[in-house]
Amino acid sequence: MLNVLVVGSGGRESALVWKIGQSDMVGELYCAPGNAGTNNNVAIAAEDIDGLVAFAKDKKIGLTVVGPEAPLAAGIVDRFEAEGLVAFGPSMKSARLEASKAFMKDILVKAGVPTARYEVHDDRDKAVLALEKFGERVVVKADGLAAGKGVVVATSRAEAVEAIDSMLVQNTFGAAGSNIILEETLDGEEASILAFCDGNDVMMMPSSQDHKRIGENDTGPNTGGMGAYSPAPVVTEEMSAWIFDNVMRKTLETMRAEGAPYRGILYAGLMITEDGPKVLEFNCRFGDPECQPILMRLESDIVPILLACAKGELKGVASEWREEAAVCVVMASEGYPGSYEKGKVITGIESAEELASVKVFHAGTALGDNGVVTTGGRVLGVTATGATVADAIEKAYSGVAKIEWDGAYYRKDIGRKAIDR
Ligand code: AMP
Ligand code: GLY
Repeated sequence: MLNVLVVGSGGRESALVWKIGQSDMVGELYCAPGNAGTNNNVAIAAEDIDGLVAFAKDKKIGLTVVGPEAPLAAGIVDRFEAEGLVAFGPSMKSARLEASKAFMKDILVKAGVPTARYEVHDDRDKAVLALEKFGERVVVKADGLAAGKGVVVATSRAEAVEAIDSMLVQNTFGAAGSNIILEETLDGEEASILAFCDGNDVMMMPSSQDHKRIGENDTGPNTGGMGAYSPAPVVTEEMSAWIFDNVMRKTLETMRAEGAPYRGILYAGLMITEDGPKVLEFNCRFGDPECQPILMRLESDIVPILLACAKGELKGVASEWREEAAVCVVMASEGYPGSYEKGKVITGIESAEELASVKVFHAGTALGDNGVVTTGGRVLGVTATGATVADAIEKAYSGVAKIEWDGAYYRKDIGRKAIDR
């Protein structure tokens, strides 16, 4: 039997633990640090690489699956491999596809993958001068990891200058914003394609779509993601085949040529424009909440796939996916993505899970004296499958209706775009 450790504590990690736990191959399954929805939690932070290595050795962990980007960018997989341990995720060098947008853009250009026209700057005055090449609508991005806050889609020159000043003069994002990217604004509908990669080969997952804004109809500030559905009908079968050849394969070939073979999840955030799909960003991990509906659609055992990726043996491994659609509605703390209160007692999770095809994945939760309490901005991912996206939406919201706490907030329009189509 294989002992498995999942690293992280969000909805993504809850979904991974749920799916991995169904495998016949798995002996002990741990989560570090986990949340109230995961069993066998270990009190080691996701960034504590030394602590995680020591735990993995002690418990004879045969596979460690890393959820979040921070430990990946800090080289957790390299450290595990140096210790003779098997870990799923990209190396530090490969994780730069997410950790540096300038690196990512450079790879895309080398690979010939369509993306927004851009320039990289580290000087405030030169960046402001360069704005004229992009017109009124320009996107200003911090190069490094900024927890989803490092992107400003400006609608006026003044707004763009303000963003440049904030990153290059006021150092709002510290070192992560000491280089910035200016890029043209692309129009279209967004979709995500995630793929399992082993350095050479690619296994694409079904398409999905996130809902990044806090408010209904995509208004208000950006969040980590307020809900997701899969499949995303904006991605046709033909487009999907094109993305496989022209985004995934080409990126992997180029990463290999750079001496950084890409293993783990490659998450392509795409804008489906009139000229076809263009890459907005890469993430080096499962998206959260996208991971939740996607894993509910995965019929196959995930463990052989994860192992094959980590060992460079993905060729010939197959995966089966359910025809059904899946939808995840995130329930968040009132105030998120700004400040919010914690420690609210949550009721109704069990009755939501009694509904057919509904699964409640925990994100920002902990076990308190009076039951499960809120500890984060995004608290739960209420996820359901259904014959169609419409059906899955209805089921997910019937689950949401059972759950309560003081200050619970959720968007009421998750998945509507898929239906409108
Ligand atoms: P990123 O982290 O690079 O994906 O950016 C976050 C969000 O900003 C994306 O999901 C898009 O909604 C938006 N965005 C980023 N780049 C562009 C672009 N070139 N054109 C239009 N929207 C963009
Ligand atoms: N939901 C977007 C992300 O995980 O980055």
